[in-house]
Amino acid sequence: MVAKNSVLILAAGKGTRMKSSLPKPLHAVCGYPIVAHILKAAQALNPAGIGVVIGHGADQVKQTVLDNLSTWGITAPVEFFVQEDLSGSGSAVKAALPFLQKHDNVMILNGDTPLLQADTLQSMQTAFEKANAGTLVLAVEVPNPFGYGRIVRDAQNQFEKIVEQTDADEKTKQIREINSGMYVFNSKALQNALTQLKPQGPKHEYYLTDTLALIKQAGLPAMVFTTQDYTQALGINSRAQLAEAAQIMRARINQFHMDNGVTLINPQDTYIDAGVQIGADTNIASGCYLLGNTKIGQNCTLESSVYINNSIIHNDVTLKLGTYIEESEVAETCQLGPYAHLRPKSILKKGAKVGNFSEIKKAVIGEGSKVNHLSYIGDTQMGAGVNVGAGTITCNYDGKNKHQTIIEDHVFVGSNVNFVAPVTVHEYAKIGAGSTITKEVAAQGLAIARSRQVVLENKGVKKEHD
Ligand code: UD1
Ligand code: CA
Repeated sequence: MVAKNSVLILAAGKGTRMKSSLPKPLHAVCGYPIVAHILKAAQALNPAGIGVVIGHGADQVKQTVLDNLSTWGITAPVEFFVQEDLSGSGSAVKAALPFLQKHDNVMILNGDTPLLQADTLQSMQTAFEKANAGTLVLAVEVPNPFGYGRIVRDAQNQFEKIVEQTDADEKTKQIREINSGMYVFNSKALQNALTQLKPQGPKHEYYLTDTLALIKQAGLPAMVFTTQDYTQALGINSRAQLAEAAQIMRARINQFHMDNGVTLINPQDTYIDAGVQIGADTNIASGCYLLGNTKIGQNCTLESSVYINNSIIHNDVTLKLGTYIEESEVAETCQLGPYAHLRPKSILKKGAKVGNFSEIKKAVIGEGSKVNHLSYIGDTQMGAGVNVGAGTITCNYDGKNKHQTIIEDHVFVGSNVNFVAPVTVHEYAKIGAGSTITKEVAAQGLAIARSRQVVLENKGVKKEHD
């Protein structure tokens, strides 16, 4: 059986203008690589198949896509086609000939327009099918058409051809209606047209954009489908366009969260990745970064300059100024900061507190436990109701290996204590301030491990008039 709709993404180009060792499709916009945004929009059409043409950095692009398909929610079968010659978007499509042969209609998307929206693609597909067209191109008027292919219309205001920037005369350059780089093709008509392409422009490239006029000349309807929203067509060719696209996407993401009941004190200075979820009545101050697959619950407060990457924050949590959280989980009603640091695999149980300049790594801080001042707690299992005094350090590393510290429920740790791991302190024990704990402490025991104080008479500071 021949499958009907399919999407082919062109991502083989060199991206010369990015001046980067990273292939252009892998540059991130709001947390996802450019190509991921395009794959996600393609997936929303529920296509029979998605093809990706790769070339420059082929292995890296392919591997990144394969590794992340489930993260990005791509369930359609994805196939890769390698373009060997990199001689233009037309030859990119030629490299995917087996894909064209498999599908009746093919939507083709440039791999560098991450702001495209799935509902626009859906409308294009519907219009194409309704008109039984040979080809359809998404066009839009842009304030500055420089660099884009211009849509040239005939006397009847119908599609005539696309003229690339490098080949445009002065009159054509005035046209502000441009080719977005998103199309739907009748697959057979496209295959025919591809055989007729001739190299164009200073770089002798095969332009996909020439196939539209060829399909029209073959007698099939060539349609221009327009949208008002020019941001959707923004193609990323340079770092400046990368920044511009990110800014537009950020504004969309922030709007989405505000519509869902999240307060952003200063949306212009709030950086939320596309994969982030935030509950209603959470209040986010200026300068916060919420990245990756972070989830934040309801009614949380994030003071200024909070940075959270790939972490889960439950309801009613307060994160004070400058708190930094990576790959960790924070239960409801916890309080962190100012300037608290959770390194990967930290888990804070309900109501726990981690205060100023405290660093937690790969540790569980039990329910209601407090690490409020200037501490380092790493590779530690801490029970509930523990109080850790200022300046407490777990010495978890012996120069070769990491070791565990276990602190059971309701232990009271005085200030400036060192736990030399591996070591266990049983429940309700007390540790005297300044102790270096190297041995197990029994339940309810009081451990004091510091040298006794000595006072030598008249060895202090000399008074001047003595
Ligand atoms: C292209 C269009 C232009 C349109 C613009 C929209 C052509 C000839 N021109 O120009 O009409 O207005 O996009 O953004 O298509 N690619 C390959 N292999 C190649 C060359 C390119 O796969 O050999 C891919 C690129 O990875 C990219 C896409 O095709 O995703 C477009 O290539 P690019 O060089 O960015 O074309 P533009 O000059 O932007
Ligand atoms: Ca481009």
